[in-house]
Amino acid sequence: MTRVRFLRADGSLAAEAEGRPGQRLLELAQALGLPLEGTCEGAMACSTCHVIVAPADFARLPPASPHEEDMLDFTPHVAPTSRLSCQILLAEELDRLEVRLPPAHANMQGR
Ligand code: FES
Repeated sequence: MTRVRFLRADGSLAAEAEGRPGQRLLELAQALGLPLEGTCEGAMACSTCHVIVAPADFARLPPASPHEEDMLDFTPHVAPTSRLSCQILLAEELDRLEVRLPPAHANMQGR
């Protein structure tokens, strides 16, 4: 299992969960009811699945593809460790991954 901590934009804990290897980080977030829309369902066409990976964990992820990098260029609140969560596959070696939701999503948490 891969343990993941999701933080709100203000750094407070939004959810903590275990995913299974091969599962998309986006799917885990959505299963928890976190406000990551993932409108294009992983086709890298929307960037509504954007998360900011904890700097200490960023290097553990396989690098982003050029297409993902291009999408991130047009994503609001992008940070040096931003990724599209639909492109992150959970794996044993990513255990204790920590990601933060960008501010745009934090505004929608009152739904
Ligand atoms: S779900 Fe659309 S880019 Fe990730």
